[in-house]
Amino acid sequence: MSKIDKCLNIEDLRIAARRRAHKMVFDYIDGGADDEKTLAQNSAAFDDLELYYRVLSSTDTPDTSTTLLGTKIDVPFILSPAAGNRLFHHDGERGPAKAADKAGTIYSLSSFSSVSIEEISRLTKGPKWFQLYIWKDRGLVKEMMDRAKAAGYTALILTVDLPITGNRERDPRNGLSVPPTIGLKQIWHGLQAPYWCWDYLTKPEIRYANLSDELSAVSLQEYVSTQLDPSFNWDDAQWLLGEWGGPAVLKGVVRADDALKAVKTGFKAVAISNHGGRQLDTSPAPISCLPTIRDAVGDSVELIVDGGIRRGTDIIKALALGADAVSFARPYLFGLAAAGEQGAIRAIDIMVEALKRDMTLLGVKSIKEIDRSFVGKKGS
Ligand code: GLV
Repeated sequence: MSKIDKCLNIEDLRIAARRRAHKMVFDYIDGGADDEKTLAQNSAAFDDLELYYRVLSSTDTPDTSTTLLGTKIDVPFILSPAAGNRLFHHDGERGPAKAADKAGTIYSLSSFSSVSIEEISRLTKGPKWFQLYIWKDRGLVKEMMDRAKAAGYTALILTVDLPITGNRERDPRNGLSVPPTIGLKQIWHGLQAPYWCWDYLTKPEIRYANLSDELSAVSLQEYVSTQLDPSFNWDDAQWLLGEWGGPAVLKGVVRADDALKAVKTGFKAVAISNHGGRQLDTSPAPISCLPTIRDAVGDSVELIVDGGIRRGTDIIKALALGADAVSFARPYLFGLAAAGEQGAIRAIDIMVEALKRDMTLLGVKSIKEIDRSFVGKKGS
């Protein structure tokens, strides 16, 4: 059994990632904004929910498949987009893209990826979506969409909760920038992360692979504040959908009125998300927003929920409250940071096995059977 296979859950992978990665890299994955209240609440909100399992109705081979934006997937979760995976391991986005392919689900590539749109497309046959931020330079926005379309990405994810980057205090404290600040503290942390340092120094350097090299040489924070357009609005979103001409997801919604506007604008799915607690601190946990949003939109749009999903029971709770699917990034990023592609695969395997086991324990044969009758507020 390899070392990574001894990790039994996502917290084990998180600990393995903390052991291997430089502190500034681990904290970039692990951290949130301000006092990290939203980051903590995203997970804690699941603890306030209990599962009312059913007896004498199980199978040991539950059907975990579903359909999202017309694409059949083998599990009701997809991989959320995440920037600059090369920073965590030289496999970069190749690791999670292959893990998604193996699990029969959708991989979402960040526009700030460190492996290009085209390379990821060549690497895997599985379904792929492309995540987009909005540049002030609309020519660049159109170019990105054209490249994604030509490379076979079937849906667009428009992330709208990052008009600027949130106040992530771990990053400047650790000296995380591009290039990284190198002082005594960083060298000390580097000595505790020799495998990461060796990998970082001997393998091709990190770059935003979809952007020109001169634009790649700045930190994410600096890049976002100079290049992205915080004034992008609903009319612009309508223009964007026309340019894309295919199905699109609006990602970063926590309010029912915004979800309704998304439907009216033409989005086919809404991702209820607060960017993993990395943007506006004290915004609510997505799982808490889900019932109200589902009640408001009815069946008019597909709903994807992310934030704090670490167990099969978390996936079941989201499906029970009306999500069509869930998504997550930190679980596979911890895996990637711990052991590259094999670690990302381990993370996805853990989630698939947990979901199957928990469906059998819940007393359902297929995810279509999971409804609100299975979930209740603690003590209700
Ligand atoms: C980028 O999207 C980040 O949250 O760091």
